[in-house]
Amino acid sequence: MSDNRVALVTGASRGIGAAIAERFAAEGWDLTISSRGLEALQEKAGRLGELGAGRVEVIPADMTDPDAVEALAVGHAEAFGRCDALVINAGMGQKGPIADLPVRRFDRLYQVNVRAPYILLQSLLPALRSTAEAAGAAKVIAIASITGVYPEPELSAYGATKAALISLCETFNLEESGNGVSATTIAPGYVDTDMSEWTKGLIPADEMISVGDVATIAHSVTQLSRYAVLPNVILTRPGSNLHRA
Ligand SMILES: NC(=O)c1ccc[n+]([C@@H]2O[C@H](COP(=O)([O-])OP(=O)(O)OC[C@H]3O[C@@H](n4cnc5c(N)ncnc54)[C@H](OP(=O)(O)O)[C@@H]3O)[C@@H](O)[C@H]2O)c1
Repeated sequence: MSDNRVALVTGASRGIGAAIAERFAAEGWDLTISSRGLEALQEKAGRLGELGAGRVEVIPADMTDPDAVEALAVGHAEAFGRCDALVINAGMGQKGPIADLPVRRFDRLYQVNVRAPYILLQSLLPALRSTAEAAGAAKVIAIASITGVYPEPELSAYGATKAALISLCETFNLEESGNGVSATTIAPGYVDTDMSEWTKGLIPADEMISVGDVATIAHSVTQLSRYAVLPNVILTRPGSNLHRA
């Protein structure tokens, strides 16, 4: 087992995942980074090295493909034999009223936002447990959404997948936190990334939650002992936007 702290971050090529990977890199962590696009990942790996990361493994995987998700988990475990933080961040959004949103879009959301996290939790559990045994604790950090807690019109399918992700992590805590492995979901309102581009005409980017805000919560979770379980953190925008996306 590596002596260094190690994280696997999905959706690490840009947005929230990139900010979390950068925060860990600045502390010298080893990292596996994943997303679909190889070129963007390789570029990001170089940047993480400049920031101070130890070893950085690049493993592309499409979260709609269960075999690729499993291969990502196996690749990480074989490379490092350790997982101090599993950051389940890759996700997708779909907007539309229940009256119109096609079921095939719901299915795709479910594959990426719920099924892939389930596969990652299951496949990386041996590495998470053994890390907790050797190092004291291992943490799962899953990026949900405020719409998984407070419903938002036209985000029903997306919100439902994020509510499922929160539920999955709560059950995970019941089953695994006694072994030193616990999960925290982070449920933000709009964060200034590519994903929220469509609504920047209504909500200026500089009034959104920043990727740095989310990375700060994620990093804080890794500082907690095995005896502190933080189930869910809601990050909401100020004023009359409280509890709205
Ligand atoms: N931005 C927001 O307002 C907001 C608010 C609440 C929660 N969230 C959640 O935060 C997480 C990150 O979102 P973000 O805003 O940072 O998004 P983003 O800027 O669009 O980045 C998404 C990342 O995930 C990867 N990705 C997308 N689809 C994938 C797939 N099918 N398989 C593998 N990787 C995939 C992307 O790389 P590739 O395209 O190369 O695969 C990229 O690295 C998501 O779970 C999202 O639901 C976002």
